Order: sequence, then structure tokens, then C-alpha cells
Amino acid sequence: MKNNFKSLVVVGSQWGDEGKGKITDYFAQKAEMVVRFAGGDNAGHMIEFGGARHKVTIVPSGIFNRHVKNVIGNGTVVNLTNLVAEMKKINEAGVDTSNLFVSDRAHIIFDWHCQIDALQEESRKERIIGTTKRGIGPTYADKASRYGIRICDIEQPEFKDILKENVDYHNQIITQLYNGTPYVFEEVYAKLMDNYNVIKNNIVDSGEMVAEAIEENQFVLFEGAQGVLLDIDHGTYPYVTSSTCSANNASTGAGIHAKHIQKVVGIAKAYQTRVGFGGMPTEIIDETAHRIRERGREYGSNSGKPRRIGYFDAVAMKYAIRVGGIDELFLTLLDVLDTEKEIKICTAYELDGKCIKTMPANDNDLKRCKPVYETLPGWEQDITKVTSFAELPINAQNYMNRIKEIVGAEFLGFSVGPDRKQTIMLKGEFE
Ligand code: GDP
Ligand code: IMO
Ligand code: MG
Repeated sequence: MKNNFKSLVVVGSQWGDEGKGKITDYFAQKAEMVVRFAGGDNAGHMIEFGGARHKVTIVPSGIFNRHVKNVIGNGTVVNLTNLVAEMKKINEAGVDTSNLFVSDRAHIIFDWHCQIDALQEESRKERIIGTTKRGIGPTYADKASRYGIRICDIEQPEFKDILKENVDYHNQIITQLYNGTPYVFEEVYAKLMDNYNVIKNNIVDSGEMVAEAIEENQFVLFEGAQGVLLDIDHGTYPYVTSSTCSANNASTGAGIHAKHIQKVVGIAKAYQTRVGFGGMPTEIIDETAHRIRERGREYGSNSGKPRRIGYFDAVAMKYAIRVGGIDELFLTLLDVLDTEKEIKICTAYELDGKCIKTMPANDNDLKRCKPVYETLPGWEQDITKVTSFAELPINAQNYMNRIKEIVGAEFLGFSVGPDRKQTIMLKGEFE
């Protein structure tokens, strides 16, 4: 496998769980560095090779390629307890984590952030977002309002005072606004330092590290979590996550300038899934949905909850390509559709009697959108052992070609199973 360019961003182009972890791990075989640039352990990326299945949430998906430096960038939010636990699990699987680096500028997710996340969800009642309760929203809110604590703060002489004030501030919110459980400073400090001491040697000025790798002409992968439709600005607000999880944030979240980004690959599932609440025009709740869910193992990797299922939404995809600056797509989970007699692609929405081809801004309007479908015949055969586009049944080729035509983007490759080997490149750049 050779590659003709030196920086590549991998992002989700739908509502998350598109197989970013699998594809990042695949590209990482040829990379020198993988940088996670946004989100926290709300992500759940499954990676399979050699008969084993691994899950990472905050550790970059390049970790199983031992030559790769894996960087948790400044744009992420990090729960140190969960990071240490994840590193331990990776070590127990026989994989070394000495090539894992954590940005000194990343914000820390504390237990109060998780509690506030859960309390806010409860208070939203019927407008519940369905967050992962990993404290993502409250941590990014603190970052924006300058109440956040970063990893680089821990070694400062006045840190204990800052943390004490921070505990008091959050205790007030928790007890006075929500009637929740307050925290004891000494316990918070002891727990933080226990975790900090484990990762202390992995902390770096990550922007500098990434810049150096770029300067040395190394191949750097920028790994996104979530997906464009969950982006705080471009996503289906308010049913989104709290970071800019599209490629627009790859440079800022990795600590380098945007001019260093060469290509953006949007990972696209061959159908649609969604974990949380919010509009999803192509959602189906029938036998087909059930079959797809079981075949695609569409259950939340963190929550175990069944994912919502729908047909491929080309309107949403076109939107994601436009606002997310996606150059090429990588189609995943195509094999999941092996059993379908016919497959639908949503080419437009009908809203209040009008045919529209863009996503409306407001979620109430999105919920009222009725999908306009084009129906294609399925291929009804096993494609999991296919190794080239030409080997695909003609109806599977047609399905990919039709998506390509409608959304106006090329495929860089496609995937026909969860294993690293079940990955097929279409373009010479990575052969
Ligand atoms: P991510 O969050 O984008 O990394 O995606 P997840 O790991 O949460 O969800 C994708 C799921 O699909 C995981 O269980 C993967 O192992 C699996 N997967 C990835 N690509 C394929 C594929 O081409 N075919 C099948 N059957 N499963 C796949
Ligand atoms: P990966 O990286 C799918 C969704 C949650 C919820 C919304 C806000 O595995 O694709 P948050 O906890 O971030 O405040 O939740 O975003 N969500 C995801 N859905 N995959 C993910 O990550 C997600 N991360 C967050 O379900 O709707
Ligand atoms: Mg996932």
C-alpha cells in the first residue's frame, strides 16, 4: 500500500457509528501518526483483526498498529479515569500504550460533568437528547465559559485552589439547580492525582508533536469521532454532540493550521443509523429494520441500546459533503444489505407539499419531512469475500454507482465486513 499524500482526515458523514474506527485502523497501517481531534469517550469504535474484536472510546483507533504514534489532541475532552481503564484493557490485550500521547491542552471531564449531563437529560423531559451521559456537553460548556480545567493546569502551584473553587462551583449547580449529589474536594483531588500519575509520562504539547510530524513529511491521520450530522454547528441541533466533530475542526483540534489538511474522507454507512433522539426522515420500524439491525450488529457500543435504522439518506449525505468539506466517501457495511430484495435511496424530502433537496435547519421541520425514494433491486448474495469492485454483483455495483451519482462524490473504497481485511480500495492512492 503506498499513499500519495501526507495528511488525511477521517470523519463520520452521518450520525456516527459509520465504521470510522475500522477505516482509521486500516489506513493506520501506512500512517506514522493518528490524532483524535474532537469529542471524548462518548465515541465507541470497534476494530477487528486476527480474530479479535477491540473497542476504543478515547484512545485513537491507530493504537493497534504498533509503529503509529497515537495522539489525543487539544480539541478533545478527556475523562482520566476512563482513559486509564481503557489503556489497561488495551495492555491486557497484549498491546502496548507507550505510543499514546495526551495533549496538555485537552480539557478534563470530571464526575460532576457526567452527573450534570444526566441531570440535564432528566430535566429536558420529552425533549431529551439521548446523550451518552459521558459529561461531554457540560465539559465543552465549561471550556467555552472558561470554567474548564485542562491537563496542563494540574502541575501549577495554585492548582489545588483552582480545583477547590471548581468543585464548589459545580456543587452549587448540582445541589441548587438539580438537587443532585455534591462532591468532596479531597476525594476529587486524590482520584484525579491517582489517574494523572498513570498518564503523566504520556502528556505532551500535542500541537508541536503533530507539526513536527508534518514537517518531517510523515503520514498523519486525523481521526474524527461522531459524524457531521451530530456537529454542534452543522448537525441536527439540538440533537447533536457538543463539539465541532466535522473535519472543519481537524486542524484546530489537533493544534495545527488548516493549510496542512490535504484530504477529507467521509465514512458512510450503506444505510442510516442513529443512536439518540431527533429527526431521521428515512427511519424504518419494520422487519427490514430488524433484519438490518441484527445483521449489522446495530446496538450502541457504549449503551447496548438498539440503534435506529433507516434507508440511505442522500439528501443528508449531500448536505454533509457540502458543510463538512468531504472530498471522497468510503462506503461501509455494504454486506449488511446482502439479504435485501430491494433497497431504497432517499433522493429528496417532501415538506408541506413541497419537494426539497436540502436539510431544513429546524428539527421540527426535519421530523415532518417525508422521504422521496428511488428503489433499486438488491443483489441477494454474500459479498463478504469480495476483494474488488469488479467482483461485486452488478446490483451492488449499481447501488454504489447510483449513490455516487446522486451525492456527487467518488468512493475511495468500500467495506464488506468488520475485519481489517474486508476493506477494498478503489483508488490507486493507497494501493
Ligand atoms: P465508529 O464509531 O464509526 O467507529 O463505528 P462503530 O464501531 O461504532 O460501529 C460500526 C460497526 O460496524 C462496528 O461493530 C464494526 O465492527 C462494524 N463494521 C465496520 N465496517 C463493517 C462492514 O463493512 N461490514 C460489517 N458487517 N460490519 C462492519
Ligand atoms: P462514534 O464516534 C453515535 C450522540 C448521542 C446523542 C448525541 C449527544 O462512535 O460515532 P453526547 O454524549 O455526545 O452529548 O450525545 O450524540 N452520539 C453518538 N452517536 N456515535 C457516536 O460516536 C456518538 N457520540 C455521541 O447518542 O444523540
Ligand atoms: Mg461508534
